[in-house]
Amino acid sequence: MTRDDLFNINAGIVKGLIETIAEVAPKAFILVISNPVNSTVPISAEVLKAKKVFNPQRLFGVTTLDIVRAETFVAEIVGESQPQKLTIPVVGGHSGETILPLISKANPAVTIPADKYEALVNRVQFGGDEVVKAKDGAGSATLSMAYAGFRFAEKVLRAAKGEKGLVEPSYVYLPGVPGGEAVAKATGVDFFSVPVELGPNGVEKVTNPPGGHHRAGEGALGQGC
Ligand SMILES: NC(=O)c1ccc[n+]([C@@H]2O[C@H](COP(=O)([O-])OP(=O)(O)OC[C@H]3O[C@@H](n4cnc5c(N)ncnc54)[C@H](O)[C@@H]3O)[C@@H](O)[C@H]2O)c1
Repeated sequence: MTRDDLFNINAGIVKGLIETIAEVAPKAFILVISNPVNSTVPISAEVLKAKKVFNPQRLFGVTTLDIVRAETFVAEIVGESQPQKLTIPVVGGHSGETILPLISKANPAVTIPADKYEALVNRVQFGGDEVVKAKDGAGSATLSMAYAGFRFAEKVLRAAKGEKGLVEPSYVYLPGVPGGEAVAKATGVDFFSVPVELGPNGVEKVTNPPGGHHRAGEGALGQGC
């Protein structure tokens, strides 16, 4: 199923699960990976608000797979055998062209040949569809999603235990998290995936991905993307 097909089914499932979390574990860190994340996170926020237990610092949409894809595909192009040595921020949403890999902000810096750039951005944005097609009805990107879920959940847990300096982009409710107002203003949206510094209380602060001019496919922040 595409993320759109999933909406009707997963919206109801997520609503029910979050209602239960609100009742039995209202202070839990909630990491939503069920697609479409662009919608299931706002649904979760509304359910938590209605139950009067919404803490935006503890609600995360898991967009890590987009980062894993960006780092893996860039590593392939530049000949780096260990993608985990690259850090590439991916911001925006978690669906097709809402996924904005900021390749010019890679650390260490990378050079992508001009003729490979567009296909690279497209593959990061639509990698999920590529997997669904390849599996031909037999499922989604299950293993890479499991890895991405593990990578993000582990960081949240390590930060909860006091480790400092852990940053990973996540889809959060901007007006409710430290540093989020500026990004909400710049983007014109309330929910956005941005680099999140994690701490014992969840979102410690979010950083505004650099604005200004980007190459095609990168985040044109400030233009309502
Ligand atoms: N965020 C991401 O990067 C990303 C990537 C790929 C897939 N996904 C999403 O992750 C989810 C799982 O994908 P999958 O390929 O593992 O699907 P799947 O069909 O293999 O697994 C779904 C599981 O949910 C269980 N389930 C169904 N209804 C439920 C309910 N009411 N309460 C509790 N559990 C219920 C099913 O029994 C099944 O075990 C989907 O929503 C998919 O779209 C997210």
